[in-house]
Amino acid sequence: MLTINNLSKSFNIGTENEVNIFKNFNLHIKKSECTAVLGANGCGKSTLFNIISGVITTESGEILLNGKKMNNLKENERAQFIGRVHQDPSKGVSPSLTILENISLSDKKCKKFSLRKLINKNKIEFYKEILQTLDLGLENKLDTEVKFLSGGQRQSLSLLMATINKPELLLLDEHTAALDPKTSRLIMEKTRELIKTQSITTMMISHNVKDAIKFSDRIIMLDRGSIVLDVRNGQITEKDLMDIYNSRNYSSFAEAV
Ligand SMILES: Nc1ncnc2c1ncn2[C@@H]1O[C@H](COP(=O)(O)OP(=O)(O)OP(=O)(O)O)[C@@H](O)[C@H]1O
Ligand SMILES: [Mg+2]
Repeated sequence: MLTINNLSKSFNIGTENEVNIFKNFNLHIKKSECTAVLGANGCGKSTLFNIISGVITTESGEILLNGKKMNNLKENERAQFIGRVHQDPSKGVSPSLTILENISLSDKKCKKFSLRKLINKNKIEFYKEILQTLDLGLENKLDTEVKFLSGGQRQSLSLLMATINKPELLLLDEHTAALDPKTSRLIMEKTRELIKTQSITTMMISHNVKDAIKFSDRIIMLDRGSIVLDVRNGQITEKDLMDIYNSRNYSSFAEAV
């Protein structure tokens, strides 16, 4: 499904701030699985997502999505295959556009259309139906500008927008981290429903070990750009994972599994 071969990435090459974040990094993600990506701040999780989605380029390495080579595609070209939800609720939406305009834009992503024809009236009922599943009343606010929505409402909308065209890969970068516990739970449940009913292959960055155990099929942990843990869900208890996360004692864990 997603295959990354021999990826290397450095920042600020040749300066005193040089960071060699990935060196000959390899990863294979299976179709329809949800993989949780854990790891301490600065270990390279978001950089990995930026590389996969084409936000930043790499020195070397190959990225294949369902056999298609992504390397030479720009970010907007990859967006037809890859959906992404960020930690910051303002990132996945256009605040000065209405809910209807935002959804229409994501629905038409990568298709040619004129701005005058952005809204397809025949689809409004469908948009209302999917908004209704969020249970936030957004279906009654189609003409409200997104800047007037709360963080949780925006994040729910981002999630719907990222999945509206059933992406081949969904990248969730701490997408509930900025939300209160109740809204975070709601969005995680909605995430599970969306990815399970549509069998969307998903990578989910989180610092929440409970969520990783509850919502993923596989858990990987990064440390300074390397995979130091790679387990199927069920192979590890929440307590063990928490202990490993806190102690960063990966080698003893590798022996234990
Ligand atoms: N555009 C950039 N320019 C320079 N350095 C960068 C850039 N992006 C990331 N880095 C560096 O790469 C390393 C990994 O950063 P990254 O944002 O991927 O970490 P992360 O695992 O997502 O952390 P967090 O949990 O805090 O979000 C850090 O040392 C960071 O400073
Ligand atoms: Mg990050």
